[in-house]
Amino acid sequence: MAEQSEKWVLMVTAQTPTNIAVIKYWGKRDENLILAINDSISVTLDPAHLCTTTTIAVSPSFNQDRMWLNGKEISLAGGRYQSCLREIRARASDVEDEKKGIKITKNDWQNLHVHVASYNNFPTAAGLASSAAGFACLVFSLAKLMNVQEDNGRLSAIARQGSGSACRSLYGGFVKWVMGKEENGSDSIAVPLVDEKHWDELVIIIAVVSSRQKETSSTSGMRETVETSALIEHRAKEVVPKRIIQMEEAIQNRDFPTFAQLTCADSNQFHAVCMDTSPPIFYMNDTSHRQVAYTFDAGPNAVMISRNRKAATLMLQRLLFHFPPNSDTDLNSYVIGDKSILKDAG
Ligand code: ADP
Ligand code: DP6
Ligand code: CO
Repeated sequence: MAEQSEKWVLMVTAQTPTNIAVIKYWGKRDENLILAINDSISVTLDPAHLCTTTTIAVSPSFNQDRMWLNGKEISLAGGRYQSCLREIRARASDVEDEKKGIKITKNDWQNLHVHVASYNNFPTAAGLASSAAGFACLVFSLAKLMNVQEDNGRLSAIARQGSGSACRSLYGGFVKWVMGKEENGSDSIAVPLVDEKHWDELVIIIAVVSSRQKETSSTSGMRETVETSALIEHRAKEVVPKRIIQMEEAIQNRDFPTFAQLTCADSNQFHAVCMDTSPPIFYMNDTSHRQVAYTFDAGPNAVMISRNRKAATLMLQRLLFHFPPNSDTDLNSYVIGDKSILKDAG
């Protein structure tokens, strides 16, 4: 590398969809490594609708790692970004671009700096899992740039150290984040349950009630819940383990009534432990609907899952009648998503 021109730049771009949990992760047993107190299950959305696009450039002329999120420079000093960069750099391998005459060795990567530009095509930090798409995309594109030879399971354990929910965005379809037992987090990874084709009738409608940044981030919200809620331990130890088994079965059997019952019940209990937190956390507005499975993440925006396209059309007609976007209903828009897979933007 030393003999080459100092002017070269190598770039990669990747796109990663967000995921919405139907059995929620809420609470950590290790804040640094981001290890959860319960397993969780989510559905990965179609990147055409809600996704992060990240471009990473590397050049010997860069003298520090820098990142821009939605066009604004952010600090990479936080432990989460540093963990992702460190873990990927440790696994980097040789890269050769013959056309450009660039050769980067495993050792070179330890001293080269990156510039990252990332865009979310949906509201950031508003309870639509921007941290999930964002960190999954960061890790995926860094791994691609540095020619990391690890499977998605291993990459998911790195994305997890950026944001817990991010580990589940490395796969399409329904995905389980296994909390694991090891203290070093080596077995706390995402595993694909069924791919996006398994239950392709499902339609996901997201009612964007507010694009504003939420007052309590997921990270601090769940920390306060673990510290102060008397209910959270019961949820993590007694309720969720049973629901995980039932949910996996409902997904395998495409059993919509059971799936809907579990999804709604888990969203309700998640918001109940938020209210049991001191001081209480309110993420929701008063929106709820029948005929579909609903789930509210850590934010006011409603995610509804319809059994099929016909039910989704009826649902949307009713929603548009009662809650027309940009009227006094405080509703911005609807996003319709299909489940889908990770897309490599080349
Ligand atoms: P959300 O409900 O949107 O996931 P969180 O509070 O969990 O909200 O996380 C929001 C944080 O995630 C942001 O403040 C930012 O630090 C990080 N984040 C969001 N989008 C990206 C991205 N594209 N790349 C890297 N980090 C991101
Ligand atoms: C309510 O993954 O955003 O969306 O690990 O601290 O970054 P950190 O939190 P985050 O929490 C997500 C919480 C949730 C439920 C879920 O996605 O499982
Ligand atoms: Co998040």
